Amino acid sequence: MLKHEIIEKNIGLMVIGVIFAISFGGLVEIVPLFNLKETTEPVEGLKPYTALQLEGRDVYIKEGCVGCHSQMIRPLRAEVERYGHYSVAGESVYDYPFLWGSKRTGPDLARVGERYSDEWHRAHLYNPRDVVPASIMPAYPHLNENLIDSAVTPKKLEALKTLGVPYTDEDIAGASEAVQGKTEMDALVAYLQNLGTVITQKR
Ligand code: HEC
Repeated sequence: MLKHEIIEKNIGLMVIGVIFAISFGGLVEIVPLFNLKETTEPVEGLKPYTALQLEGRDVYIKEGCVGCHSQMIRPLRAEVERYGHYSVAGESVYDYPFLWGSKRTGPDLARVGERYSDEWHRAHLYNPRDVVPASIMPAYPHLNENLIDSAVTPKKLEALKTLGVPYTDEDIAGASEAVQGKTEMDALVAYLQNLGTVITQKR
C-alpha cells in the first residue's frame, strides 16, 4: 500500500493532515504581516486628530456618513485620476476604528480635505441641494444646533492614548477648551478639511 493511501483511507489522520496544511499556509501568510512596518507605522507628517477634528470624526460616525462614503482610494488609474494619490495604510494608523467603508453612494472622501472651502461644506451639509442641485445626500441642518459635549472630549483623547495615539498631556489638558461652544457642524467640517491632506499629491 502506498503511503498516501494510508492517510487517505484513515479519516482521523486525514483531518489532522488537513488542519496541519491549512494552519501552515495561514501562518506563512499572516506572520510576515506582524513585521511589516508599512502597515503599522504612520506616514511621514501624520498628526493625531486635534480635539475638534476628533469630535468631528465622531459626528461622521454617528451620522452614518460611512454608509454612503468610502475613505479608500484604490490604486487603479480611474480612482487615482478622480480622487488623488491612492490611500496607504500608514495614513489610518491613528484611526480607531478606521472608516475605509465599502459603499459608494456618494464619492470617496479619503482626500476631500482642502478641496472645498469651509463655507461650501457648511452649505452642503445644511442642505446638499443648495450647492449640488441633483444631490441625493440627506440634509443635516441639526448639526448647526447641536453643541459638542466638551466634558467628554479629554476622555476620548485619553482612551486613544492608551491605544498608542501619541497625544501629549497638554493635548489632553486643552481638549475641553478647544471644543468649548463649538457645534457639531464646526467639528465635522474641521474633520473633513483634514482628510487625506498628509499626502499632498492631489488630482
Ligand atoms: C444616502 C447617501 C449619503 C449619505 C448618508 C451621506 N452622503 Fe455625502 N454625498 C452623497 C452623494 C450622492 C454625494 C454627491 C452629490 C453631492 O455632492 O451632494 C455626496 C457628496 C458629499 C461630499 C462632496 C464630495 C465631493 O468630492 O464632491 C461630501 C464632503 C459629503 N458628501 C459628506 C458627507 C458627510 C459628512 C455625511 C454625513 C454627515 C454624508 N456625506 C452623508 C451621498 C450621501
